[in-house]
Amino acid sequence: MATYFYPLSKLDTAVYRKYFMDNVFDTALEKINAAKVTAPIIYHKFTNMDEHRPVLDQLEKELQDKYNFPYKVNAFLILIHHIPQQIHIDAATGRDFRRYVSINLPLANYAGTRTVFFNPLPSYEYNFIKPEQVTFHSEFKAEDQWSMVNPDVPHHVVCDSHAAPRVSLALSFEENPTFEQIFKDIPGLEQILSVG
Ligand SMILES: [Fe+2]
Repeated sequence: MATYFYPLSKLDTAVYRKYFMDNVFDTALEKINAAKVTAPIIYHKFTNMDEHRPVLDQLEKELQDKYNFPYKVNAFLILIHHIPQQIHIDAATGRDFRRYVSINLPLANYAGTRTVFFNPLPSYEYNFIKPEQVTFHSEFKAEDQWSMVNPDVPHHVVCDSHAAPRVSLALSFEENPTFEQIFKDIPGLEQILSVG
């Protein structure tokens, strides 16, 4: 069975969690609240990486040193799960951004939350998918760790409650590799990931 998620437990969490909560959370919350007036938006995308370069340099270096990742971060999302997230794929045609791999870190209120993956469909006419169209594949419980996930298959984050919304960080890469491409680009990655 295909695997759609891998924990990246070798990456530090505290330093990045503190940075993103201290430096970008307020902006994301403000933008998401403003968008909520007309649409149930749960994320804000940050594309100006210059102002976050020092922390991203550190993170890219850690990804390189510990997982041989050669990729460069070109954007990140802050997701605030104040409402249930619809099943979707991140790479669907017509989406405002399309990405094939995501590296994620839960930032706050993630205990008991999970990402549920569904079996792929033959085609995607729209990025949102009805529950009756898909069948369960697997699920990944958020822990205090980074993960690499495949958002190119139907998935959503499920929270038992939205009263204290989960906050997450999701990185995108300039090269926008597919999940499969990453394993071709990085020899031995399967073994490295098998120990986290
Ligand atoms: Fe997604």
